[in-house]
Amino acid sequence: MNRLSRRALLAGGAALAARPAFGLALPPATTGARIEALLGRMTIAEKAGQLTLMASAIGGRAATALNPPGTGASAEVQLAAARSGQLTGIFNGEGSAWHRRLQQAAVKSRLGIPLIFAGDIIHGFRTIFPVPLGEAASFDPDLARRTARAAAVEASAAGIDWTFAPMVDIARDARWGRGVEGSGEDVTLGRLFAAARVSGFQGRSLADPDAMAACAKHFAAYGAADAGLDYNSVDVSERTLRQVYFPPFQAAFDAGAATVMAAFNELSGIPATANHWLLTDVLRGEWSFKGLVVSDYTADEELIAHGFARDGRDAARLAFLAGVDMCMQSGLYRDHLPALVAAGAVPMARLNEAVRRVLALKAAVGLLDDPFRRLTPGREKRMVGLPAHRALAREAAQRSIVLLKNDGGLLPLAPGRRIALIGPFASGPHDLIGPWNVYGDDREAVDLATGLGAGVTVTPGSGVETALPGGIAAAVAAARLADVAVLAIGESQVMSGEAQSRTEVTIPTPQIDLVRAVAATGKPMVVVLSTGRALALGDAVLSAPAIVVGWFLGSESGNAMADVLLGRVAPSGRLPVSFPIESGQVPYHYDHKPTGRPAAPGPAVPYKARYRTTPNAARFAFGHGLTWGDIAYGPIVVDGGLAWDGKVEVTAVISNRGRRAATEVVQLYVRPRSATITQPVRRLVAFQRLDVPAGRTAKAVFVLRRQDLAFIGIDNRPVIEPGAYDVWIAPSAEAGAAATLVLAAPA
Ligand code: BGC
Repeated sequence: MNRLSRRALLAGGAALAARPAFGLALPPATTGARIEALLGRMTIAEKAGQLTLMASAIGGRAATALNPPGTGASAEVQLAAARSGQLTGIFNGEGSAWHRRLQQAAVKSRLGIPLIFAGDIIHGFRTIFPVPLGEAASFDPDLARRTARAAAVEASAAGIDWTFAPMVDIARDARWGRGVEGSGEDVTLGRLFAAARVSGFQGRSLADPDAMAACAKHFAAYGAADAGLDYNSVDVSERTLRQVYFPPFQAAFDAGAATVMAAFNELSGIPATANHWLLTDVLRGEWSFKGLVVSDYTADEELIAHGFARDGRDAARLAFLAGVDMCMQSGLYRDHLPALVAAGAVPMARLNEAVRRVLALKAAVGLLDDPFRRLTPGREKRMVGLPAHRALAREAAQRSIVLLKNDGGLLPLAPGRRIALIGPFASGPHDLIGPWNVYGDDREAVDLATGLGAGVTVTPGSGVETALPGGIAAAVAAARLADVAVLAIGESQVMSGEAQSRTEVTIPTPQIDLVRAVAATGKPMVVVLSTGRALALGDAVLSAPAIVVGWFLGSESGNAMADVLLGRVAPSGRLPVSFPIESGQVPYHYDHKPTGRPAAPGPAVPYKARYRTTPNAARFAFGHGLTWGDIAYGPIVVDGGLAWDGKVEVTAVISNRGRRAATEVVQLYVRPRSATITQPVRRLVAFQRLDVPAGRTAKAVFVLRRQDLAFIGIDNRPVIEPGAYDVWIAPSAEAGAAATLVLAAPA
């Protein structure tokens, strides 16, 4: 196991224990003195300017498509704002030349305070890595650290000091489109990936020219939107917030995340952007977070639409007093804070506190020492799209692929087999890099047809959501001429991401018709799924002997998928989200509560917690994923009891009865038999990627401590309860047999 994940795994559930989280470290005394000196010379308008972040007037590549239209400031207006100290920075700007022009204007302002350049660098800059949900399927946090590092190297060379990432929202409702930006449904996975991405983006020191400040977002519980509808209301208990939605943020802050973004949604009646309890009592009071809070895009202004603020002035006051330091895109702070302070409605001390945090961030990323730290001419050209980054993109993509099913060992495809590659995602520069991408370009990515290479026929067969005239007939003819049909189907990348909630998490009907027709030829069929979410696959797709999840794999998409299909590498990814049987089950997540009438697997029994026609189970469970060959789990062995201050080894022998080496993601789950707060049927506490040579065995060893058994108790604080626990070492959340572990009471 790698260094980072081992350390993080050993921490286990301890993140729930009352460990304070610290964000950005306090600036050294000399920096502090510089900041105070600047603050002393600033007018109120200049202070409000330092809290005003705007979308770049000259947007990078896809920037304008990713948000609602902004205020449409021209480059001249933005340059003037920089010169007059009315702007703290911009985001999603076009590149280093434009950033340089703006910075030159800013350093000529009265106080010469440099701008900060931000960007949504979610899964790569120009070299694009798998979408974060896909990358989470690697169950390899250190991989995410490495891809975040590479993204920072490229983006910082284009002048970007600050990324609006990682997105650390736990997402349990597959209808919600933004699950694609995070690490899925599980808290442990979410914590480990949050921490890994923060350390990757921020590198060794934030001041390094190739580091970017991270921004954990969206605080908080954005993924719990009612009915999976983006931006919708959230109403969750404080206990669930602390048990499920907060831990990835705490992990990001423990890893040093410099900033956090307040979420769009309301939280039990109070919008997150105006939520003093969330942004001040918890974040500052309990967790001692020292970094900066930025609003989401116009989220302060949206307090009016929420029915929470009367007008723009009221919205600025409410967001600012709740704890949002910097306002993104609305301009409300610039427009209203001076008057609000003059009227005594906002204390000067609060204004100074927010400005101090902005200046501390600028100091931390090295801008106060050198405004052009990330704007060295020529660096952008040299660092962007490095061959080493392409190689990492291929490795990351290979590890993100999940083999759901492989009946009869259809995969890997034997050399020389004639392949009919069919489906809307078979070829072409589209739907490769995935959503939430500002600077990537599908034309610079490799499609599946190219990856598979010569000897493959390519037939689209269908559009994504509409049929193609003659498409099915052509696909059937191609399948008949081949030995095997590979169907590249699923969602296009615009079907997930922001504002892309779906009511049914299914593959569109025209593609299902295509699958049926190809299946009817009797040719063996491999389904390759493009998707940004968990899908309910349905019988036609499930009839394929082999199914592979490809998410959106990024720049090296087609090469990596071909590596797996052709057997050059073994698949090792695991589902970070449960694939339900039917859409109507969502939000389905493996760590649901048992209820008083749990339904046992097997035939339906009346008056149990199941649907009329569907059990309350996943079609493909969280953690599921196959590799080549035949992996078997021996019984779980718990090496004695667990003393209150002790530790216990929990082991299982994993055998690989196949003919190829395998990497098995071994998972450790727990559940107390009884507790003072009802607990999920299972909870993942640790996992490891275990290499098992062909025809051999390997021993998975986990060390459990009482902290791994912590949960949020009756008083909303972490608690650990002595007693009997079920523990599993299993290949997925819904497999394996439990053993008993007893935690003794303190002596
Ligand atoms: C998204 C954020 C993003 C911001 C700036 C918003 O719509 O919710 O995640 O960072 O836009 O592009």
